[in-house]
Amino acid sequence: MARKKHDDADAGGARGGEPDAGGREVVPAEREGERAWQAALRPKTFADYIGQKDLIDNLRISVRAARENGWALDHFLFAGPPGLGKTTLAHVIANELGVNLVVSSGPAIDHKGMLAGLLTQLGERDALFIDEIHRLSPIVEENLYPAMEDFRFDLFIGDGPHAKAMAIQLPRFTLLGATTRMGLLSAPLLDRFGFHWQLRYYDLPDMTAIVQRSARLIGVGIDAAGATEIARRSRSTPRIANRLLRRVRDFATVEGNGTIDARVASGALDRLAVDHAGLDTLDRGYLTVVCERFDGGPVGVEAIAASLSEERGTLEEVVEPFLLQIGFIARTPRGRVATASAYAHLGLTAPAKAPSGGGPQGRLF
Ligand code: ADE
Repeated sequence: MARKKHDDADAGGARGGEPDAGGREVVPAEREGERAWQAALRPKTFADYIGQKDLIDNLRISVRAARENGWALDHFLFAGPPGLGKTTLAHVIANELGVNLVVSSGPAIDHKGMLAGLLTQLGERDALFIDEIHRLSPIVEENLYPAMEDFRFDLFIGDGPHAKAMAIQLPRFTLLGATTRMGLLSAPLLDRFGFHWQLRYYDLPDMTAIVQRSARLIGVGIDAAGATEIARRSRSTPRIANRLLRRVRDFATVEGNGTIDARVASGALDRLAVDHAGLDTLDRGYLTVVCERFDGGPVGVEAIAASLSEERGTLEEVVEPFLLQIGFIARTPRGRVATASAYAHLGLTAPAKAPSGGGPQGRLF
């Protein structure tokens, strides 16, 4: 089961048979279906948002100050692995500000005119969300600077010596940026944000609360142990929890009495090849390659990607952050190494050189 790195990467698997509000059977395209589900489960307000407490507390203050004074909110940037809620936060912020949100992404804005089109749709204090902002082309990025700083967009009418420069005055707006790769953001772009924040993986109580909330919204019964089991196997990532919840619901509906308990959740997740640590076939494949083919490392990410026939970016942005977080791999200047915890997870004997792991990345250094 290959995972892709981009935000719509979790599309798929939701095909078919969902009743709509009128009770009719709708069979949306897979991608549409998954997006619609994720959107329906999104919290709409700060009060509904579970986890990331420090960030939410900071945002509450800034949003309140902006709203009460009629200011446009400063430009904010959110960083972190896919599925932790960067897009959700943009929707919550716009909703709490009471403004419109225009949504786009770095790769979608493939020329200057496209950026102009987005910016000129904005009303006073509206927000523009650019996902994967590290993937903007240099030209588009340069044209974003005056828009962010002075709410100005520079246009050239005509070509050659007769070209005329013209500046369009934009409304005061808020840019909300999201990136899975903070390190790829240029310094000038980073500088123009008033605030940036690295989203963290969610702890087990927050993940469990997210599963319980989503179960309530999709109308499936779940007990505390069932919710904890799904939460524990969801890579500390709400988007994955919401996806697994729906798959477990399918098993509970077809083979059980429609309610999710620990036994139903555990049986379904085993059959979906999601193991007790939340790892799927790609994660286990990664660890197996490092442990068995490269003797535990150090090994470069390119070599691992080639062995798995996967994109390097997928490994760097999706697979490795969580394996680092749970202490199954460590990064060293000479490459990735598997820890003793990774060997134990695969049921293999660790060589003496393997670092102990067993905790977040920081503890290994
Ligand atoms: N926090 C992050 N994602 C969430 C979700 N889907 N529901 C509630 N709180 C969340």
